[in-house]
Amino acid sequence: MEVVPIIKTEALGKSFSKGSKSNNGIHNVNMEIKEGEFTIIMGSSGSGKSTLLYVLSGLDRPSSGQIFLNNTPIHKLDENTMTLFRRNHVGFVFQDHNLISELSLKENILIVGYLSKQDRRVVQTRAAMLMKELEIETLADRLPSQVSGGERQRCAIARALINNPKILMADEPTGSLNSSASEKVLSCFKAVHNEGQTILMVTHDPKSACYGDRVLFIKDGQVMEAFTFGTQNDLEERHEALLQWLRSLGW
Ligand SMILES: Nc1ncnc2c1ncn2[C@@H]1O[C@H](COP(=O)(O)OP(=O)(O)OP(=O)(O)O)[C@@H](O)[C@H]1O
Ligand SMILES: [Mg+2]
Repeated sequence: MEVVPIIKTEALGKSFSKGSKSNNGIHNVNMEIKEGEFTIIMGSSGSGKSTLLYVLSGLDRPSSGQIFLNNTPIHKLDENTMTLFRRNHVGFVFQDHNLISELSLKENILIVGYLSKQDRRVVQTRAAMLMKELEIETLADRLPSQVSGGERQRCAIARALINNPKILMADEPTGSLNSSASEKVLSCFKAVHNEGQTILMVTHDPKSACYGDRVLFIKDGQVMEAFTFGTQNDLEERHEALLQWLRSLGW
């Protein structure tokens, strides 16, 4: 069976300074993400990871090239159509959770579901299921300020998944967490991936990258190389294999 790419780009570019020959942003990115894959984007600071993710998600617009998300050429959509499309196709987790501080964890998740105009009962059932899976159901009525950083981030994942997006994207989702909170958040990504969720995650941390299936390496705004994990199940073995590859790229 042919696997459909959820994301496909052609000569994708995003530059920030008009006219000048700046190296900022991303250039000539040709990539594909298949349904069900857990793809990681790695690269040094300033290499263009966030820029790429923002453009792929439709949060930002490309300067050149094409992006097909679930076969839709999103570079052609106007702002309003893009917003609606994104709401139903992309879940986004930011480094800093971005939860609304006046709303409880549960309300933060529900409000995004209600915006999509689904039946309220369906949204409530799915929110309850996600909170249970992400182990925040006992914290449902607390405010974001009343839970830990890892719990906030798990709430942000539930919120990103409430509309059953085709793809879950995350930009350094564990960047502000300690190692045990990070592990728990990454295990949650792995669990939803095991249920079939397509995920694209940016990280600069090789340990976090080991939770994925495939790693894309970006340098100076260009996707240079891809690494696919072998059959190693052990995180230590995966880490060693990934480090060896990264070192070969001058990491
Ligand atoms: N809004 C902007 N205006 C001008 N330049 C920008 C803007 N956003 C990003 N850049 C530049 O584009 C390049 C890529 O930035 P980006 O944020 O994508 O890097 P990154 O790989 O995510 O880095 P980090 O690991 O530090 O988050 C950098 O040189 C950055 O300074
Ligand atoms: Mg970044």
